[in-house]
Amino acid sequence: MRAHVITYGCQMNEYDTHTIQSELVSGGHQIVDHPDDADLLLLNTCAVRGKPVEKVVTVLGELRKERQAGRDLKIGMMGCLAQLEEGQDIARKFEVDLLLGPGAITDIVPSVEALEQGETGIERLEFREDLDTLIPPAPNALTGFLTIMRGCDHNCTYCIVPTTRGPEVSRPVESILAEAEAMRDAGVQEIMLLGQNVNSYGLKDDGLPSFAELLRLVAQVGIPRVKFTTSHPMNFTSDVIDVIAEEPNVCDYIHLPVQSGSDRVLKRMAREYRRERYLDIIREIRAKVENVVISTDIIVGFPGETEEDFEQTLTLFDEVQYEHAYMFIYSARPGTPSAKHFEDMPRKVKTDRLQRLIEKQKGYALDANRRWMGRTARVLVREIQSEGDYAMGHSDQNHTVLIPKSQVNRLGLHEVVVEHATPHTLYGRLAGVEPQAVPLAMAR
Ligand code: SAH
Ligand code: SF4
Ligand code: F3S
Repeated sequence: MRAHVITYGCQMNEYDTHTIQSELVSGGHQIVDHPDDADLLLLNTCAVRGKPVEKVVTVLGELRKERQAGRDLKIGMMGCLAQLEEGQDIARKFEVDLLLGPGAITDIVPSVEALEQGETGIERLEFREDLDTLIPPAPNALTGFLTIMRGCDHNCTYCIVPTTRGPEVSRPVESILAEAEAMRDAGVQEIMLLGQNVNSYGLKDDGLPSFAELLRLVAQVGIPRVKFTTSHPMNFTSDVIDVIAEEPNVCDYIHLPVQSGSDRVLKRMAREYRRERYLDIIREIRAKVENVVISTDIIVGFPGETEEDFEQTLTLFDEVQYEHAYMFIYSARPGTPSAKHFEDMPRKVKTDRLQRLIEKQKGYALDANRRWMGRTARVLVREIQSEGDYAMGHSDQNHTVLIPKSQVNRLGLHEVVVEHATPHTLYGRLAGVEPQAVPLAMAR
């Protein structure tokens, strides 16, 4: 069949999309670049908040109209929503032909064969433990995603992920290293190790290295830049910080979700650490890793969050001075403990708090970015804009960096002198290029 995959959600889903695509190609199918050219459309869905679910419903509504108008199209729902009753109800309503859970993606080829034979309403929702597919790197990719573990053993009361992705399963170290080596040999410049809680890699299995040991092994494969996400504060141990400090190619960027600055809220969220423990980790990171950039995830307006609780989140931001933060409004997910047991708070309170936090965060982001002015960053240029004036890339500290495209003649790693900073972006010139009287970013 001619298949097209639309991906929502996080990097886990992107990795799964890549796996599905390679499996389909090995199975004799074709991947098409445009959804209009497909006779099988796969939606790789996300269910972490209400919004990504609404998006999928909108797309399914449009596809239903196209099918009613006579388009011969099979529709598959994969990803996290497919695993939930909520998603299965939606799938029934829109007559989705195939439901493929995140634990069953390697069933894609037999499922498509069944579709070709006219079967519909196919469901493959079991969690397979042998999901250890070795996938070839995407052609010409600068960045390679590499899943080191699946699932989540935590039970944060707001979160749907443990239901959608099942229990934690760590991948064998040999296949992780083999995949990393294949990426290196294919010219990948940056590798991203993926898991819901990378720090608990190997904890349940005898014979597997710890995450710190694994990170060092992957660093030594020799890819110029190694990143990882997501870290959970609970198992973020000193030996991980030491590897980041010691291995030059492990990137100086740490995403450490805190969710709330209030111990009372953390407790109700069932996060297993408290504010002071989290701050200890941050202090150790800042002391050991030079130039480090730290980002976080925050949920604003968790049920029962008082003004006082929220102020604890604000003061936490003053203490940590995050360079970057992903800030979300609490979204009640059907079936989660917090949705069952606590009442949601008024939307207006939530949006006001979010706005106040965003304002505060912006100040710290700008201060941090300004400290880079005049300094040299190593930037992986990913894109040279065809319409705009810039080439775009990311620094070793994960800043978004723009460079006048007239100076850049190839993608890949470049040394860049930072000339100008905004809260979300650094602007610079290639090292060795004479400064212009007025840098492009300031001329406009
Ligand atoms: N495993 C990661 C997070 C995965 S989900 C971790 O524990 O850090 C990504 C982020 O979505 C979470 O960190 C959280 O901030 C947010 N999130 C999860 N469930 C949510 C909900 N019900 N409402 C709002 N945000 C949510
Ligand atoms: Fe969700 Fe918590 Fe697991 Fe992260 S650690 S995926 S927030 S349950
Ligand atoms: Fe969404 Fe599933 Fe990722 S719910 S955020 S796609 S793990």
